[in-house]
Amino acid sequence: MKKKLTFLGIETSCDETAAAVVKENSNGTADVLSNVVSSQIKEHEKFGGVVPEIAARAHVENIDFIINRAIKLSGKNISSFDGIASTAGPGLVVCLNIGYNIGKSIASFKNKLFLPINHLEGHALSPGMENNISFPYLLLLVSGGHSQYLIIKGIDNYKQIGTTIDDAVGEAFDKTAKILNLGYPGGPSLEKFAKLGDKNSYALPLPIINKGGCNLSLAGLKTDVLRKSKQIKTDQDKYNLAASFQETINKILRKKTEIAMTIFRKEIHDSSVKPFVIAGGVAANQTLRKSLKEISKKMNFKPIFPSKEFCGDNAAMIAWAGIQRCKRKVIVKQNEKVRSRWPLDKKAPFLKGPGLKF
Ligand code: KG4
Ligand code: ZN
Repeated sequence: MKKKLTFLGIETSCDETAAAVVKENSNGTADVLSNVVSSQIKEHEKFGGVVPEIAARAHVENIDFIINRAIKLSGKNISSFDGIASTAGPGLVVCLNIGYNIGKSIASFKNKLFLPINHLEGHALSPGMENNISFPYLLLLVSGGHSQYLIIKGIDNYKQIGTTIDDAVGEAFDKTAKILNLGYPGGPSLEKFAKLGDKNSYALPLPIINKGGCNLSLAGLKTDVLRKSKQIKTDQDKYNLAASFQETINKILRKKTEIAMTIFRKEIHDSSVKPFVIAGGVAANQTLRKSLKEISKKMNFKPIFPSKEFCGDNAAMIAWAGIQRCKRKVIVKQNEKVRSRWPLDKKAPFLKGPGLKF
């Protein structure tokens, strides 16, 4: 029997300092031996968003403790690990450098394999930790920095079929929550207050809904929320606007997901039930989950949501991506540098900036 790999994962791409120890099991899924995440909510709360220098300082202060804790909780010793995987991008360079450099140093000191991992690949492969999932599958990655539809054909074989041309879905939630003064972090608090409101009370725009394939645009929606927020008189108006915003995102994702599913079918020439994975922090949203489950049923897809602890940023998904790469010998050279921008599909067009036409 082939040896089952164990990896230490380290994640510091944004405002979570995280470390985890993951071992593959005999079912082909993961035994997550430890998964430690330290969130910097308190540090960034008063600014209503992540401040890179503050985030970097918090990573420096916490990283030793978090790694030691992950190793201790796993009950393993570093010497038994097959490799160490650190997020190397995309993200905030000052933050990435901390997890990357410490991972590389431990690996070098302990004479272990070091793998720099793409954070998006971590999210993309994360459902495999809990499910025996076969390629190809459709992925909707919705986080604070990214919103993409990808066809995951295999490890290191990714085709982007849609992306946001301006704001990411999580970013739109965060900015709307900030406009409405609903608290930080924005996504979960907006979801909470939306429950108190009437989702049909405000008509908000659905940018590029009938053009641009399964690409997304959300900046116009946020601007309209800002405009309408100026007319708010009561808390109930505020909750109504939050509920209407969430419902608008819901409508956009329903339509765009249907288009992405049609593109996926054309690309793979297979009409059997296929997995549709929804990953990234926004995948925790219950209203969106319900909608995406309905659309999956209609379009003959099996929806898969990672557990809440693996939806947001975590290091287990980074360790897992390291294991998958190591197993298939898809190894990035060790002299890789961290990168702020690192698309999963290198051939995908860069759809941002003025002059973009559909
Ligand atoms: O994947 P993630 O933890 O970090 C990034 O890679 O960005 O995603 C964080 C994003 C934030 O924008 C956060 O507001 C959003 O996910 N989010 C949510 C919910 N929980 C987290 N958005 C909507 N509803 C939620 N329940
Ligand atoms: Zn993420």
